[in-house]
Amino acid sequence: MGKFGFLFRSVIFFGLCLLHVYGEPWEDKQALLDFLQNTSHSRYLNWDQNTPLCTSWTGVTCDDRQIGVIALRLPGVGIRGSIPPNTLSRLSFLQTLSLRNNGISGVVPSDFSRLSNLTSLYLQSNRFSGPLPLNLSAWHNLVVLNLSNNNFNGSIPLSLSNLTQLTTLDLSSNSFSGQIPDLGIPSLRFLNFSNNHLNGSIPNSLLRFPSSSFSGNNVTSKEVAIPPIPSSVPPDSSVHKAKKISETALLGIIIGGAAVLFVMIAVCMIVLWSSKKSKQQDSDAEAQKTEKFYSKKKRLPTESREEKNARITFFEGSNMAFDLEDLLRASAEVLGKGMFGTTYKAALEDSNTVVVKRLKEVSVGKREYEQQMEIVGNIKHENVAALRAYYYSKDENLMVYDYFRQGSLSTMLHGKKENRLPLDWETRLKIAIGAARGLAHIHSQNGGKLVHGNIKSSNIFLNPQNYGCVSDLGLATIVTPTVPPIQRIIGYRAPEITDSRKATQLSDVYSFGVLILELLTGKTPLGEGTHLVKWVYSVVREEWTAEVFDVELLKFPNIEEEMVTMLQLGMACTERVPEKRPKMSDVVKMVEDIRRESTDTHPSSEVSTPTPTGLSHTGETGSSTYVTPQ
Ligand SMILES: *[C@@H]1O[C@H](CO)[C@@H](O)[C@H](O)[C@H]1NC(C)=O
Ligand SMILES: *[C@@H]1O[C@H](CO)[C@@H](O)[C@H](O)[C@H]1NC(C)=O
Ligand SMILES: *[C@@H]1O[C@H](CO)[C@@H](O)[C@H](O)[C@H]1NC(C)=O
Ligand SMILES: *[C@@H]1O[C@H](CO)[C@@H](O)[C@H](O)[C@H]1NC(C)=O
Ligand SMILES: *[C@@H]1O[C@H](CO)[C@@H](O)[C@H](O)[C@H]1NC(C)=O
Ligand SMILES: *[C@@H]1O[C@H](CO)[C@@H](O)[C@H](O)[C@H]1NC(C)=O
Ligand SMILES: *[C@@H]1O[C@H](CO)[C@@H](O)[C@H](O)[C@H]1NC(C)=O
Ligand SMILES: *[C@@H]1O[C@H](CO)[C@@H](O)[C@H](O)[C@H]1NC(C)=O
Ligand SMILES: *[C@@H]1O[C@H](CO)[C@@H](O)[C@H](O)[C@H]1NC(C)=O
Repeated sequence: MGKFGFLFRSVIFFGLCLLHVYGEPWEDKQALLDFLQNTSHSRYLNWDQNTPLCTSWTGVTCDDRQIGVIALRLPGVGIRGSIPPNTLSRLSFLQTLSLRNNGISGVVPSDFSRLSNLTSLYLQSNRFSGPLPLNLSAWHNLVVLNLSNNNFNGSIPLSLSNLTQLTTLDLSSNSFSGQIPDLGIPSLRFLNFSNNHLNGSIPNSLLRFPSSSFSGNNVTSKEVAIPPIPSSVPPDSSVHKAKKISETALLGIIIGGAAVLFVMIAVCMIVLWSSKKSKQQDSDAEAQKTEKFYSKKKRLPTESREEKNARITFFEGSNMAFDLEDLLRASAEVLGKGMFGTTYKAALEDSNTVVVKRLKEVSVGKREYEQQMEIVGNIKHENVAALRAYYYSKDENLMVYDYFRQGSLSTMLHGKKENRLPLDWETRLKIAIGAARGLAHIHSQNGGKLVHGNIKSSNIFLNPQNYGCVSDLGLATIVTPTVPPIQRIIGYRAPEITDSRKATQLSDVYSFGVLILELLTGKTPLGEGTHLVKWVYSVVREEWTAEVFDVELLKFPNIEEEMVTMLQLGMACTERVPEKRPKMSDVVKMVEDIRRESTDTHPSSEVSTPTPTGLSHTGETGSSTYVTPQ
């Protein structure tokens, strides 16, 4: 029986392994590796033969059944040179291709016509040149085509009119010449041909688009039939010619003028109507809270493209693909406003969601800022939220983190009742263990000198194993805080700290202690004029210990001992005298021991609760912990 069971399991296991090996589109993988090998790119791409293509490769999206790659997005990764032929064109399932904001030159390979399932093609802001393939009919599924900001030349092929699904066509800022073809595409909603070398007249089928779709060319509307615009006639002969104008010509001009006026009014009305309509749709679609990053649409710095891209810095291991433009374009929901800036949840084009922190005021120079970011960004620990990327410029400082779906510990504890599940003791214990490990790891970095500086429940999240995970570290020493001081004095801040830029590891321990008390009591340390630490000490002093615990916890049996041990730990961490507080590495052991102790010795009657450093001072420190705000 046992033997058969083993055999059976082995077969299943072997089968699963096979599935795993053959369960990914290795032809697509090979095509992408060939592409990678034959192009140069300045940003690190984690494309490794031995990692699964569909789940871990940057910028790659497979279909649900992992049969093929359906989207490839590599914006702003610094690709140089031309696209090697017979590489990307082998991705036969490809629907979305975005290579925008790179430095790609050369022509669009003719074998791209094999990408017959393509629906979106974003090649804007590169250095593509040469003509478009004459026969574009192969892309009959194409919906969005953006080729703007390149050096394409030659004429705009008439075969574009075969792309009957097309809604968006942006060919602006290229060197296209010749006449505009008559593209009778009813589905087309956006068109931009501006800043090319086009001439001739705008065909009737395209007159519905605003004049800014054609600006920067030498084109005329068909309706404004060629001759008698007086200003185009040389000044000397104008008087002479004006005299010669016959009455019929005059009538012609009047009628022509009226026609022009009529067309202009009609165009204006259509534009107004459609913009109104699209605004309506936008505001319907977007949640009320959603706002663009910038209330005033800011332009990107107008330096060369390479520099613009170089300054968003990604850390290794990030499989995100976006650039600054994505971030600025993403619709963003404000998650919170904190001491160092505003935090947004940003939904990127490729359905990734990230958290973007926009720093208010960096108080150190670029060099020092970048050094700090390097330290923070290179921390890889399961209990520290990874910094994925940052952006630094004179007037904008952004930090990009993963988005945690469940929200922060603060929302889990204090959010609206109807939106949250009660946090059971098991979960709270794991949160405390994880956060302690994370913070201890932070304290071991930068030669054992790194300080978190802003430990609070809104900076604690759950990692995939549901252990606590610490976010937002290392900012205190480099960012000027913005919240008025009175609010900062209470809450998590250690009494000896008067300037948040002077936070220490021992003040981190204090804040962590407050966090533990918050987990135990379910009370927020920031609200209602009460000082959580003072309150806990006073209750304990009066020997009403059980009163401090969150009522939500009291319904779970047999946890009181663990809670009391945790309480003692929280109080040891919030010792008024910094030197009496335990080090984070000791805190980790203590918090891990809480469960070990009780499972080892339970149900023995003589459980000896460990007495953490400083606990014997409970009574006296209790009275002195409260700091009166200055
Ligand atoms: C690209 O690189 C691969 C190695 O991965 C090589 O076998 C292939 O010949 C190269 N293809 C082109 C088009 O240069
Ligand atoms: C293109 O997509 C369709 C379904 O949308 C699929 O049936 C077909 O196999 C795809 N073509 C290729 C070449 O993958
Ligand atoms: C363009 O390509 C399509 C399919 O790729 C083909 O059916 C068609 O005949 C071609 N047209 C011309 C004019 O070459
Ligand atoms: C095409 O790309 C350019 C340059 O990035 C951008 O300004 C433009 O808005 C894009 N067009 C559309 C329709 O999204
Ligand atoms: C397009 O540009 C290339 C150089 O990039 C040039 O050789 C070619 O003649 C140009 N074609 C047209 C139609 O201007
Ligand atoms: C695409 O358009 C061209 C020019 O309009 C035409 O000659 C050709 O037959 C069309 N091809 C297909 C596949 O419809
Ligand atoms: C448009 O420009 C082309 C060259 O780009 C030229 O051959 C043609 O004569 C011009 N047409 C008009 C109407 O100016
Ligand atoms: C077309 O692009 C140009 C330059 O990028 C811009 O000024 C113009 O407003 C755009 N037109 C439309 C209709 O978006
Ligand atoms: C624009 O086109 C007209 C003829 O259509 C031509 O006379 C004029 O010189 C052109 N202007 C420029 C700036 O190319």
